[in-house]
Amino acid sequence: MVCLGNICRSPLAEGILKHRAKEAGLDWVVDSAGTNGYHVGEAPHRLSQKVAKLNGIDICDQRARRFVKEDFDRYDKIYAMADDVLDEIKWIAKEKYNPAKVDLFLNELHPGKNKSVPDPWYGTEPGYHEVYKLIDETCDAIISKYANVQIEK
Ligand code: 4NP
Repeated sequence: MVCLGNICRSPLAEGILKHRAKEAGLDWVVDSAGTNGYHVGEAPHRLSQKVAKLNGIDICDQRARRFVKEDFDRYDKIYAMADDVLDEIKWIAKEKYNPAKVDLFLNELHPGKNKSVPDPWYGTEPGYHEVYKLIDETCDAIISKYANVQIEK
């Protein structure tokens, strides 16, 4: 799960998908990162923590890290929260970029629409609730789609 700062959107996506996968008995490794390094080492934004907690999900132990090209070796699927994030992923990954592993996150909810999760960073609390709902619905779609898929190594 990749966004710009790894403090607002992708920590929610990591927390929600981990929670859903656990509920579904799936042994998935879910992680998140940001393409810019401005917030490395920081906990998620307080409003992301707040909306997660209101929905029964605790993300306070997460710490921001920067996306690295080696993430293409470590993970089967890489979701970009927005189109600008996708551009940055390509730029960081360079020769390791593998388009087969990457998609815009919201394409799992609205296939082929190439929509972006709005960035709540510049806004107020209602924006975080809106983003939570979008991410939550998309995580449900991901669980339904991949729960029975075996990935070949
Ligand atoms: P995020 O939001 O990508 O959802 O974590 C942002 C957080 C910080 C900044 C940009 C987006 N920033 O420029 O510091």
